[in-house]
Amino acid sequence: MRAVRIQENRGADNPDALVLEEAPYPQAATGDVIVRVRAASFVPDELDWPGTWTDRAGRDRTPSIPAHEVAGIVSEIPYGTTGFEVGDRVFGLTDWHRDGAAAEFVAVEARNLAPIPEAIGFREAAALPLAGLTAWQGLFRHGGLTYGEASGRTVVVHGGAGGTGSLVVQLAHAAGARVIATGRTAGEETARGHGADDYVTLESGGLDETRFGPVDLVFDTVGGEVLARSAALVRPGGTLVSITAPPPVTPVDGRAVFFIVEPDRHELLELARLAEQGVLRPHVGAAYPLAEARTAFLAKRRGIPGKVVLDV
Ligand SMILES: NC(=O)c1ccc[n+]([C@@H]2O[C@H](COP(=O)([O-])OP(=O)(O)OC[C@H]3O[C@@H](n4cnc5c(N)ncnc54)[C@H](OP(=O)(O)O)[C@@H]3O)[C@@H](O)[C@H]2O)c1
Repeated sequence: MRAVRIQENRGADNPDALVLEEAPYPQAATGDVIVRVRAASFVPDELDWPGTWTDRAGRDRTPSIPAHEVAGIVSEIPYGTTGFEVGDRVFGLTDWHRDGAAAEFVAVEARNLAPIPEAIGFREAAALPLAGLTAWQGLFRHGGLTYGEASGRTVVVHGGAGGTGSLVVQLAHAAGARVIATGRTAGEETARGHGADDYVTLESGGLDETRFGPVDLVFDTVGGEVLARSAALVRPGGTLVSITAPPPVTPVDGRAVFFIVEPDRHELLELARLAEQGVLRPHVGAAYPLAEARTAFLAKRRGIPGKVVLDV
């Protein structure tokens, strides 16, 4: 099969070593299905993650195939796997320590897949699992919100026009919260379009806490200085959630949480249900053919808003 592979770690800023080449057809493990990939997505940082370079036992697994968000069609169901039929349209996350979806076929644990809702296509489905699960887990597992019961709560989403942030904004809004998104000036229209009630530009000293009022939850997707100053925005007893690094400061009487997203089929099904209802729309900023994976990684690194998708 044709696949994009990488042999050498040159860092997430330098995806030059990504090459489209012939690769072996994937080997299914117990509980896997084989998916014929139609679209895949990624975060450029994954080229820095240990799982891109080693298996779970720490052994070198290069050349490895990147892009752990997949949307496609079940093409093979190995003996013993249940829950899907050949021809089903599915989306989900592939294991960080195994080959990803920048390929014609990928082996994926069936428990990490869900049916693609009728209302969305392969590109949007590929843009949903990582950002959607991260948003869901940050708000509802770690952030203390309950879907449908967040009325009266205020959520600040740093990077609210980004691939992850735009889904955090949509989900927090759908959950009933008042949402204040932040980011660069150029992101305002996008964030408001996803349901932000307010937008604060970070470029002009925007982290002044008087601009936010009492905030129950800050969900940070930006990191650095923005993360370091975010505990001060949270009301006493509130929560600061980060997906970039452990927060260096904890809110007064509150909680500071850093987490790494986990595959979860039940939550994927919830995301699919909301996408089907039109409540959730993955933000596809650009799509490239598989042969242009290198350009796609660079483009995302240089700031294309939303998710960048590979068409396979
Ligand atoms: N822990 C986890 O499980 C997990 C899961 C998913 C992602 N992540 C990480 O989360 C981060 C965000 O991922 P993503 O895919 O959502 O990235 P993204 O699409 O680039 O979104 C980031 C957003 O923040 C904005 N931004 C960045 N720096 C800024 C600054 N200094 N001031 C104002 N706005 C700024 C960006 O604007 P511009 O586009 O204009 O720069 C963009 O709108 C990455 O570091 C990623 O690796 C972690």
